[in-house]
Amino acid sequence: MDAVKAYAVEMTVHLNGLLKLGEVRNLIEKPKFEEQGDLAFPCFTLAKELRKAPNIIAQELAEKIDHPILEKVVADGPYVNAFLNKRMVSKHALTSILKDGSAYGSINYAKKKNITIDFSSPNIAKPFSMGHLRSTVIGNSLANIVEKCGYQAIRINHLGDWGTQFGKLIMAYKLWGNEARVKEEPIQELLKLYVQFHAEAENDSRLEDDARAWFKKLEDGNEEALSLWTWFRDESLQEFGKIYNLLGVHFDSYHGEAFYNDKMERIVSRLEESDLLQVSDGAEVVDLAEHDLAPCLIKKSDGATLYATRDLTAAVYRQETYEFERSYYVVGHEQSLHFEQIFLVLQKLGYDWAKQLTHIPFGFILKDGKKMSTRKGKVVLLEEVIQEAIRLAEQIIAEKNPSLQNKADIAEVVGVGAIIFHDLKNDRQNNIEFSLEDMLKFEGATGPYVQYTHARACSILRKAEYEDTATKGLNDSYSWSVVKLLMEFPAAIERSFNYQAPSQIAKYLIDLSQEFNKYYGNIKILSEDEELESRLGLVKATTIVLKEGLRLLGVKAPDEM
Ligand code: ARG
Repeated sequence: MDAVKAYAVEMTVHLNGLLKLGEVRNLIEKPKFEEQGDLAFPCFTLAKELRKAPNIIAQELAEKIDHPILEKVVADGPYVNAFLNKRMVSKHALTSILKDGSAYGSINYAKKKNITIDFSSPNIAKPFSMGHLRSTVIGNSLANIVEKCGYQAIRINHLGDWGTQFGKLIMAYKLWGNEARVKEEPIQELLKLYVQFHAEAENDSRLEDDARAWFKKLEDGNEEALSLWTWFRDESLQEFGKIYNLLGVHFDSYHGEAFYNDKMERIVSRLEESDLLQVSDGAEVVDLAEHDLAPCLIKKSDGATLYATRDLTAAVYRQETYEFERSYYVVGHEQSLHFEQIFLVLQKLGYDWAKQLTHIPFGFILKDGKKMSTRKGKVVLLEEVIQEAIRLAEQIIAEKNPSLQNKADIAEVVGVGAIIFHDLKNDRQNNIEFSLEDMLKFEGATGPYVQYTHARACSILRKAEYEDTATKGLNDSYSWSVVKLLMEFPAAIERSFNYQAPSQIAKYLIDLSQEFNKYYGNIKILSEDEELESRLGLVKATTIVLKEGLRLLGVKAPDEM
């Protein structure tokens, strides 16, 4: 039983064919204020046809509309406002949530068609940046969301593991490197070598030439070069792996730029055959002037391929391997031009699936209003930032709930959840201010607040020794506000899918938590009366939705904290 539909059907009958059911349904909206009712039907569109004032039409319709699901129907100016039968609707809604469990809100858009999601994609031998953190968190959530909507997500980590910088790194390591130190602190040490290389190269231009020669050797499969590169890559991946473990993120593919090293010729020839390559300053480019864009660089004057060449190759590889229905690239908006170019070049090559590629950009993480960077100056490693969040969470938990059993585990879930939620509650295009203190607050729009609400609801169920029983529905206004929100979960998921916006779910969870906490504050849930089971059903349904919503964001929901 869908209340909106029932209202629409009833309305359509009384409109005597003036509007089709679908049209009526589309017109129905939510009244501005809760006191005005649950559903509103505006009469403006009918005024012309009926040659009557909308207010009059509303009055006439309000008198006729009558359906058991509607408690009361009134004309409110030009609107016909309906108040739903709380008990009937809540009984139905809660029963179906309790029955569906975590599957509630699933949508079957596509029977397991693939969506590839290119996300995280850090650069080997460099620190995992704040930008990579955002990509990781947003991409992971989008993967969960598309799966909730019936797609198969293919999670791809397009590692930055190729390019002339590896020639420099090999060179620097051979000159100044130390195996034990790299093993101890791979990222810091490799970064140091890289920085040293640039400093020394300022005075000694031969270094650059040697580095180029080393990259050439790497490209040609020279054993020494390859074994150093493999080692750097493995060490870096191990470091990144620690972050992925903490964040609870996994990938289906780690094919990064290097993987495409021997696969680029095909696309380059195809560009040649299609007469798309032009020589400009010795380099080979695809001209995009007719689109008002800078040319897309395919080969440097020395014949070396570029980031763009590898992305073009990767797109074709992904289409051939996964036959994706859509392909997402979760990368900061500073690379918007790059993706615009890539997508256009693929279109020019006649790949009709190029339309299915989407760049999903996001803003920066700021610290005190300035772009936060893990790169410059003293290296702050992201893993340490996450560990710091976990330490803070542990302190807070120790104060709030000293008797809690597994404090360390829960602190990890809360600390990590705080970071993820803080990112995802913001619309991704916005810049966000990074503040561990703010994100770890147990009140306000934070991850810990939603987790805490979930844990509180779980504790009520534990106290009551709740076991699934049939609900009779509820009739009071506090529960009604919660029920209405619970019914909106599928719509929030749909919006998050349509706009690639996990923030839709995060904001929804904040609203639901607030509404539930109001309920908790105003209603004696555990009173022994005939509505106890129904109230517990509402609490249980809330835990289901909070937990599933958090899961879609990539955040865990402990039962206790
Ligand atoms: N490694 C790149 C960077 O750190 C991001 C790669 C994004 N994915 C892609 N297919 N280009 O900037």
